[in-house]
Amino acid sequence: MSKQLILALSKGRILDETLPLLADAGITPAEDLSKSRKLLFDTNLPDVKLVIIRATDVPTYVQLGAADVGIAGKDVLLEHGAEGLYEPLDLEIARCKLMTAGVTGQPPAKARRRVATKFVNVARRYYAEQGIQAEVIKLYGAMELAPLMNLADEIVDIVDTGNTLRANGMEPRELIAHISTRLVVNKAAMTMKHDRIKPLLARLESAVKKRQ
Ligand code: ATP
Ligand code: PRP
Ligand code: MG
Repeated sequence: MSKQLILALSKGRILDETLPLLADAGITPAEDLSKSRKLLFDTNLPDVKLVIIRATDVPTYVQLGAADVGIAGKDVLLEHGAEGLYEPLDLEIARCKLMTAGVTGQPPAKARRRVATKFVNVARRYYAEQGIQAEVIKLYGAMELAPLMNLADEIVDIVDTGNTLRANGMEPRELIAHISTRLVVNKAAMTMKHDRIKPLLARLESAVKKRQ
């Protein structure tokens, strides 16, 4: 295994908050990420590279060792599963909640519940734990539309301010998990590249503490 370190970053809303933490840890991209169509970037450190990918792909890259370290939301990690990954650090950014939600004032369906979500594994696990029969319908976004269109009785989605739910005539119901952004490390890399990863972890940890 080469001693090069590959970091997989989630593009989208986490990226803007991730970059200052990385900068505090001594890693800055060699060029302006927003001005490039590239996906693999050099950094100020010759042996550290960044890949900027879909949030949901980060655990896959890290689990399979294509990246050594990744940054992803706990929601994505819960959905993907923890096999092959360590999760040593909570970066404490992009805090939100994973919740069930339904049409405001409408009691939850009594019989088999139709649940629209992109978090199908989390949803199946949650409803099974609750002893509720659920038919889980996979969507890739705009879950808040599903009950409105009578595609589903309920959704499982991210809630922060609750504005998206309210704007679509829905209300939050049950909390499934508190969410924030986590650092994940490939288990083999943690051993093989310990001398590179340990100081990175320590610097990121102090960058996180500085922000609290
Ligand atoms: P994609 O658009 O590629 O399907 P996504 O919608 O999951 O991905 P983002 O919207 O960039 O990606 O969200 C990235 C992460 O930020 C999520 O995995 C979650 O942890 C967190 N997050 C999502 N929505 C919110 C929100 N409204 N407030 C705070 N954090 C959020
Ligand atoms: C996220 C999430 C919810 C919304 C919750 O969507 O999927 O829809 O934020 O935030 P709120 O409670 O503050 O309204 P996002 O803006 O990421 O859009 P997306 O559907 O493209 O992921
Ligand atoms: Mg989103």
